[in-house]
Amino acid sequence: MTETITIRRPDDWHVHLRDGAMLKAVLPFTAAQFSRAIIMPNLVPPVTTTAMADAYRERIMAALPAGSRFQPLMTLYMTDDTDPADVVSGYESGRIVAVKLYPQHATTNSHFGVTDIEKIHPVLAAMEKAGVPLLIHGEVTRPEVDIFDREAVFIETVLDPLVRRFPGLKVTLEHVTTKEGVEYVTGARERVAATITPHHLIFNRNAIFQGGIRPHYYCLPIAKREEHRLALRKAATSGNPRFFLGTDTAPHARAAKEAACGCAGLFVAPVALACYAQVFEEEGALDKFEAFASLNGPRHYGLPVNEGTITLVRRPRAVAEDVSLPAGEAVHVFRGGETVSWTVADADSAAAAVA
Ligand code: DOR
Ligand code: ZN
Repeated sequence: MTETITIRRPDDWHVHLRDGAMLKAVLPFTAAQFSRAIIMPNLVPPVTTTAMADAYRERIMAALPAGSRFQPLMTLYMTDDTDPADVVSGYESGRIVAVKLYPQHATTNSHFGVTDIEKIHPVLAAMEKAGVPLLIHGEVTRPEVDIFDREAVFIETVLDPLVRRFPGLKVTLEHVTTKEGVEYVTGARERVAATITPHHLIFNRNAIFQGGIRPHYYCLPIAKREEHRLALRKAATSGNPRFFLGTDTAPHARAAKEAACGCAGLFVAPVALACYAQVFEEEGALDKFEAFASLNGPRHYGLPVNEGTITLVRRPRAVAEDVSLPAGEAVHVFRGGETVSWTVADADSAAAAVA
């Protein structure tokens, strides 16, 4: 049995770090395992300009544990009014790496999202020309579409037309959750890729209703049927360079999730690499783990791969239920209260002990 896994240092291509006290509490877990991460811009108010991204980056750097070499890669939140010149200059000066498209009302803090794709055609044309990647939350939000069909309908009615209309645009379908998504990305033109979360590889929609309503399994896109989970596992572990790691770690205080209208999002950062390693081991694909975690993402984004390595060891580790926030609040950790088999042996900061 494999006892250690050593791979080139990985990156997380989809992270919600939040702000303020939450940022301070959750950032060490990401920084302990990943060299770089693409930072989602859905703050309140959202990060809509390069100047706002600069300021957010400063707050992230200030919240990092001492000695950390973690690099946040900033993004802009697309609105109907996004300025193409700001996007292009932000990208060309290295201050942002991508723009995120949330259809309006698709998920947490998406009320400023794009109301009609036609409105953003000029900015998409500018991004295509300048090589700026577009990151997409791929769900339609029309109320008549069943929540479990939102991704598949989005792919057919929005993503495919967009990909065809802008044939040079670099596109990431974030947190793909369906076999339709896997098939689409696998067969799409060049420069179309997808991230896959650990949780969508680990549970299916039954987990949300196991013996009662389970808010800590509720995220968006919502987990789908088992056949979709199996398609995701196959894609992630296939070695296909179009699929790579993006945890979508999305912390919310317990009170915000355990509520009559609970927030979507799972705090997966503390167990992210352990969960992915478990999946690759179960699929007999540990030889493909490095490509998924450390090589395919940089290749899609045209960035260098990281120097150095990270080692996971087979050492059972009890996962803490919660991470504490000031004022007595807490964030529940995905798989908290369970034991995971893999532990990061040589991460960068004190958070390694819990990562
Ligand atoms: O479950 C989710 N939570 N999905 C998203 O797309 C956003 C995220 C959040 O920010 O909480
Ligand atoms: Zn997300």
